[in-house]
Amino acid sequence: MSASGAVYSGRQRLLHWLMALMLASLILAVEIKGEFAKGDPRIGQLMIWHKQVGLWVLVLVWFRLYWRYTQSMPEIIPPLSRLVRLGAQGMHVLLYLMMIGIPLLGILFSQAKGKLIDFMGIPLPLLLDESTGLPYALSLKSLHQWLGNALIYLIVIHALFALFHHWIRRDNTLTRMLGFRRAVAQ
Ligand code: HEM
Ligand code: HEM
Repeated sequence: MSASGAVYSGRQRLLHWLMALMLASLILAVEIKGEFAKGDPRIGQLMIWHKQVGLWVLVLVWFRLYWRYTQSMPEIIPPLSRLVRLGAQGMHVLLYLMMIGIPLLGILFSQAKGKLIDFMGIPLPLLLDESTGLPYALSLKSLHQWLGNALIYLIVIHALFALFHHWIRRDNTLTRMLGFRRAVAQ
C-alpha cells in the first residue's frame, strides 16, 4: 500500500467547499425565515442573503466548469467500473445544471412578478418583464422551489456516496477533494 494518485487542484477544492458552504447558508436562510412573524425585518435580510449568495453561485459555477473541462480529473484508485464512473459523472452534470438553473429561475420569477433584481447593487438586465412574464411567475417560482428542494436531497446523496467511498470502499475519492493523498491498495 502506498500514498497514490493526484488530488483536485487548490482552486477546484477551494470553490467546491466554499460553494458547498454558500449553498448550505442560502438554503438555511430561506428555510428559517418561516420561523419569524410576517413583517419581521429579519425576513427581508435573510432573503437578501439568499438571493445575493445564489447569484454568486451562478457566477462562480462557470469557473468550476472551466477548470473541470480544462484540467484532467485526478484518477480514483482503485479504479471504478465504467458504469459507476458514468453514474458519478451524471450526478456531477445534474449538480452543475442545478447550480445554473435554480438561480436563473430565481431571477426569472422575481422579474416576472415585477421585482427588479440587483447583484451587489448593480441592477441585472431584464430577462422577463412583468407584462409578458406575469402569467408564468407562479410556475417559475414553483419550479425554483421544487428544484431547490430536490437539490438538498441530491447533495445529501452526493455526500453519502463520498462517505461510502471513504469508509466502505476505502479509496481516495474524498481525499482527492480534501487535498491529501491516501494510502490505498492498488
Ligand atoms: C443556487 C441558488 C439557489 C438555490 C439553491 C435556491 C433554493 C431555494 C429554496 C430551497 C427555496 C425554498 C423552497 C421552499 O420554500 O420550499 C427558495 C425560495 C426562494 N428563492 Fe431561491 N435559490 C437560489 C437562488 C435564488 C435567487 C438567485 C433568487 C432571486 C434572485 C431566489 C429567490 C427565491 C425566492 C424569492 C424564494 C421564495 C421565498 C418564499 O416566498 O418563500 N433564489 N430558493
Ligand atoms: C458535505 C458535503 C459534500 C461532500 C462530502 C462532497 C464530496 C465530494 C467529493 C469526494 C467529490 C469528488 C468526487 C469525484 O471526483 O468523483 C466531489 C465532487 C463534486 N461535488 Fe461535492 N461534496 C459535498 C458537497 C457538494 C455540494 C453542496 C455541491 C454542489 C451542489 C457539490 C458538487 C460537486 C461537484 C459538481 C463535483 C464534481 C467535481 C467538480 O467538478 O468540482 N458537492 N464532492
